Amino acid sequence: MSIEQPATRPANPRFSSGPCAKPPTFDLTRLADAALGRSHRAAVGKDKLKAAIEGTREILGVPADYKIGIVPASDTGAVEMALWSLLGERKVEMLAWESFGSGWVTDVVKQLKIDAEIKTADYGQIVDLASVDFANDVVFTWNGTTSGVRVPGGDWIADDRQGLTICDATSAAFAMDLPWDKLDVTTFSWQKVLGGEAAHGMLILSPRAVERLESYTPAWPLPKIFRLTKGGKLIEGIFTGATINTPSMLAVEDYLFALDWARSVGGLQGLIARADANAGAVHAFCAQNDWIANLAEDAATQSNTSVCLKFTDGRIQDGASFAKAVAKRLELENIALDVGAYRDAPAGLRIWCGGTVETSDIEAMLPWLAWAFEAEIAAQTEAA
Ligand SMILES: Cc1ncc(COP(=O)(O)O)c(C=O)c1O
Repeated sequence: MSIEQPATRPANPRFSSGPCAKPPTFDLTRLADAALGRSHRAAVGKDKLKAAIEGTREILGVPADYKIGIVPASDTGAVEMALWSLLGERKVEMLAWESFGSGWVTDVVKQLKIDAEIKTADYGQIVDLASVDFANDVVFTWNGTTSGVRVPGGDWIADDRQGLTICDATSAAFAMDLPWDKLDVTTFSWQKVLGGEAAHGMLILSPRAVERLESYTPAWPLPKIFRLTKGGKLIEGIFTGATINTPSMLAVEDYLFALDWARSVGGLQGLIARADANAGAVHAFCAQNDWIANLAEDAATQSNTSVCLKFTDGRIQDGASFAKAVAKRLELENIALDVGAYRDAPAGLRIWCGGTVETSDIEAMLPWLAWAFEAEIAAQTEAA
């Protein structure tokens, strides 16, 4: 078995699942027009915040009667705002099949102390979506970033639901089709699929979610940072660019640049095609090599962004240290950065395949993965 290094290297070794690679055309001069040192409430700042909201609507195809707000604390902030502001009015079903979904379960059960129905599945699998009762509020993650398992579309979500659907879509938005008529609350953060900067989250509300906000007051106190209503009415300003507190205008400029780049590659369909091509290259590699496999067992649930892989070679003695060592070799060679599995996930690798990653870089990286695997098998044999 040869362990010669491949001749070609990826031009960009960034395959992190967040913050994700910047768009290929990014450089810092692109941010020169940022409204720095200006009030975000001045016309220039408000216009940029509004452009971020309307650009999001345009590219994601969010219906005109849905509200889009820029909120503090990234995707986590957006999800927490939704959970704390909306839940408690009726029964809640929590669906989780990896670390982030499990985190929302903990929040709802241990912090809000809601007696929720919890449905969980192991890493690589998904819960029984057919069993979900949409008389309840339902909280789920569209794409489980730490297991690489996503929902297979939105057909399982009832059109005539009485409860709300609350969807953490942070590693799905801009890479997967999101059926807005099925989603009442959708969240994501800038640092994910478009390769923006961390800091801010996006909260997208359907008319039914707004109606809940205006007709129901939770039993628990809400800090200012979570408050979406005042005197029983939605604070409309949050959804037109008047943020709850001070945003980073540098991060806003960066997001506006990312949205422009998204337009330049064909908008949402162009982004989906790029992610599909990237994930497809990894899937083909798994099909060709019997020592590696997708963690997501059912092809219908395999992510096209956070592709999680497991080593399946019987010669591997210690799965966790083997996977870490392979990731380390790829990092030391500057071939693939940040591709170790998430800390709570099974041992393996996670390759980000969102649209900011170039397929040519995925294709150049994969032979190096084979090289690192073989080198590590050899090292393990030598050490024995
Ligand atoms: C599914 C999911 N939810 C939430 C988060 C937290 O996102 P943020 O750090 O932007 O708040 C992440 C981050 O990777 C994620 O993948």
